[in-house]
Amino acid sequence: MKIVMLGAPGAGKGTQAEMIAAKYGIPHISTGDIFRYNIKNGTDLGKEAKKYMDEGKLVPDELTVRLLLDRVAKDDCKDGYVLDGFPRTIPQAEVLTKELEKQDAKVDFAINVDVPDEDIVRRMGGRRACVNCGATYHVVYAAPKVEGVCDKCGSKLVLRDDDKPETVQKRLKVYHEQTQPLIEYYEKKGVLRTVDGTRDLHEVFADIAAILEQN
Ligand code: AP5
Ligand code: MG
Ligand code: ZN
Repeated sequence: MKIVMLGAPGAGKGTQAEMIAAKYGIPHISTGDIFRYNIKNGTDLGKEAKKYMDEGKLVPDELTVRLLLDRVAKDDCKDGYVLDGFPRTIPQAEVLTKELEKQDAKVDFAINVDVPDEDIVRRMGGRRACVNCGATYHVVYAAPKVEGVCDKCGSKLVLRDDDKPETVQKRLKVYHEQTQPLIEYYEKKGVLRTVDGTRDLHEVFADIAAILEQN
């Protein structure tokens, strides 16, 4: 099963993708997490990506596409995957469609987690992310067992560099301009499913699981 998560920054794509990955035993692939991992380790890719991310802009398609195609070519992806944060532009979606066509495959579901901009800004300030494994928490809505410590790996939780309110506003603008058109793109392909992302995260997940099990 090949799944694409769509939604504004902070809509809960990562939260839901993690739950999908755990329930269906497929890898959760987040281009944002891969970039952050490279930034933390000081790689060339990380240095290049950081320039754009800190400004709330998108990393250029060329770089992102190469990274994603390498990742989905790995062995653990042969039974499917859940993509979180990719595609983010029409050209990225076209590359993915073409690559899958070569393998006689397609995206099975594009899950659009729908959350209005007002709710997004409120969520981001409370988000905490693990510096090591990228797991996501919220100080109120999804608190870790021990404050400031990752449940999964015991590493430190931090506020992401791009979660400052002014950067969040920029990311929302970029989302509306460059990423939102993907909703129509996948609707035309007949694979779009929209869920109301404003509810409790377990309720959102129940909707997604029902969609995936219709198959
Ligand atoms: P990326 O890491 O993908 O960030 P994003 O799209 O801005 O999305 P977020 O990770 O901020 O939000 P999310 O939807 O995953 O929400 P989450 O589950 O954390 O990308 C970062 C940057 O990398 C981009 O700006 C760009 O520069 C670059 N990049 C990445 N991919 C790229 C690409 N393909 N092309 C070009 N550039 C790329 O939830 C948010 C918070 O809300 C959390 O605290 C969570 O606990 C909480 N929460 C979740 N669900 C609920 C709920 N139902 N109720 C209450 N709280 C909830
Ligand atoms: Mg995320
Ligand atoms: Zn962790």
